[in-house]
Amino acid sequence: FRIAVFASGSGSNFQAIVDAVQAGKLDVEVGLLVCDKPSAKVVERAEAAGVETFAFRPKEFVSKAAYEAEIVERLERKQIDLVVLAGYMRIVSDTLLKPYEGRIINIHPSLLPSFPGLDAIGQALAHGVKMTGVTVHFVDGGMDTGPIIAQRAVEVAEGDTADSLAASIHHVEHVLYPYVIGAIASGKAALGDDGRRVLWS
Ligand code: GRF
Repeated sequence: FRIAVFASGSGSNFQAIVDAVQAGKLDVEVGLLVCDKPSAKVVERAEAAGVETFAFRPKEFVSKAAYEAEIVERLERKQIDLVVLAGYMRIVSDTLLKPYEGRIINIHPSLLPSFPGLDAIGQALAHGVKMTGVTVHFVDGGMDTGPIIAQRAVEVAEGDTADSLAASIHHVEHVLYPYVIGAIASGKAALGDDGRRVLWS
C-alpha cells in the first residue's frame, strides 16, 4: 500500500507518518511528497528520509488544472493508493479529485463541522470553546466537508494561546494520522456504499 503526502509547510505530520513507518508501526510505503512551496521545511524532511519529492511553483503552470494534471501523472506513475493531505494549503479540484475519488484524506485541527477553513485554532480560541480537537476526513469538493473518518477531542486549557493550543493539537495529530492511514491501508476503515458514512470494522 503506497501513499503520497501533500504538504505546504513544516511537515510535522509528514514526519510523524515517516517515523511510524520506520518504527514498523505503520505498514505502508511513503512513495512521494508533493509540495507547492519548494522552500518549505517539509522538503528537507523528505530529503532526509529519502522520500521522492515533487516540489513545484503553482505560478509556473498556466493553470491549476495544469499542475494537478502533472501531479496525477506522477501519482499514477508511482501507483499511489492513497493521497494524504497534511497541511496542504490548496483546495483540490476535479482534475485531481475525480481520478482519486474516495482515496484522498485530510487532517484538520478542529472538530468538524466546527471551524472549517483557515486558522481553525484561532477560530476556536476566538469563539471561546472549551473543547476542540482533530478531524481526519475524506476529501470532497468542499472546504473541509468530506466524510469524517475519525476525531479526537483536545481540551482548551485556561490561558491557552494559539501556540500552546497548536502544540496540544499537533501532539494528537501525530498519533491519530498514522493510525487512520493504517486503518485505511488494512481495510479496517472504509467509505460506505452511500459515499458519505465511514464504516469501521
Ligand atoms: C496541521 O495542524 C493540520 O491539521 C493542518 O495543517 C497543519 C500542518 O502542520 N491541516 P504540519 O505542517 O504537519 O506541521
